Amino acid sequence: MTDNLFIKTVNGHKQNKTPMWIMRQAGRYLAEYRAIRATQKDFISFCLNPEQASAVTLQPITRYGFDAAIIFSDILMVPWALEQNVRFQPNIGPLLDSLDKPSMFSNDLIDSVSEKLAPVAKAIRLTKAQLSPQTALIGFAGAPWTIITYMAEGGSSRDFAKARGWAWQYQKEMDGLLDSLIESTINFLSLQARAGADALMLFDSWASAVPAAQRNWLVIEPTRKIVTGLREKGHFQPIIGFPKGIGEGLIAYVEHSSVNAVGLDHGIDPVWVDKNLPKNFPVQGNLDPLSLLQAGPNMFKDIDHILDAFASRPHIFNLGHGITPPTPIENVQLMLDHVRQRHH
Ligand code: CP3
Repeated sequence: MTDNLFIKTVNGHKQNKTPMWIMRQAGRYLAEYRAIRATQKDFISFCLNPEQASAVTLQPITRYGFDAAIIFSDILMVPWALEQNVRFQPNIGPLLDSLDKPSMFSNDLIDSVSEKLAPVAKAIRLTKAQLSPQTALIGFAGAPWTIITYMAEGGSSRDFAKARGWAWQYQKEMDGLLDSLIESTINFLSLQARAGADALMLFDSWASAVPAAQRNWLVIEPTRKIVTGLREKGHFQPIIGFPKGIGEGLIAYVEHSSVNAVGLDHGIDPVWVDKNLPKNFPVQGNLDPLSLLQAGPNMFKDIDHILDAFASRPHIFNLGHGITPPTPIENVQLMLDHVRQRHH
């Protein structure tokens, strides 16, 4: 695994080729995914079915030969394991019981996370056995703040008003909830690391909703504690942080969170990123997924712009957010060919 293109890059060693994978690569834009999805009773039991989760994890690798696979699971598996009644409603998205106010979880519940999510570890083992050493396997979890937005609202939200309100109203209780989620997330990522994940990624998809004054408290410190906790448990896999929409807060995030690499959303200017992050700090991103609906000349121009901006820093090509279900599969191939033909 140490001579793997993705792993070397994420560890800060620029290679003569740019490794590539895409967020949500195992998903509904693939007919072969939809075929397996149709056989599954519900989304949570699909995630907890090691054979099927492994099969869909491998689909985009078989089709496109990406440099990394990401295990098929979801960031809401942790609140599911914490017994928040998580379910996915077709055409609505995730639903869970909403909390009245933030509070700590019992140690028993936090400890039960590893056991309840053991099928994800099994899916990782099955997948590793099928992957060639050229393809890395990424394990992942949601970051505490993003998980809190779902636990507060009981699902997706437009403005995250409840979680943001809690942060001003219930500071002590928020600290308790953050600590419980930090411990639960360490348990889940440790499980995935032990199962053989080559890298780990922490999705803070709604970091954009955190006021600048609270970024350190709600985004950076929880991330640092998770990274530190994993190192203390003896896991030294590279960790990618994805503080989506954090803006100029990226500078402090990179300086203080202890992550090895950072995922970039499409709202951030790659030229600004290259100017403002420490030399050689690895980055991943950041093409707008919606550019793939047409794959017109402007998409190729932006791919070139991103690759040029990161020409002298370790860079993993990716989208700025997940690929959308209506994306034509041949457009993904066009993007891939364009990135690959730039390197010889
Ligand atoms: O291919 C991969 O990237 C690996 C699998 C993966 C899924 N979810 C599978 C999934 C990953 C990495 C995630 C992360 C995830 N899940 C995030 C963080 C990334 C982001 O998008 O910001 C978030 C916020 C979630 C929560 C979530 N899961 C929502 C809001 C939804 C419903 C909306 C939607 O896109 O359907 C999901 C469902 C989900 N997770 C699907 C997949 C493939 C689609 C469900 C289906 O097939 O029925």
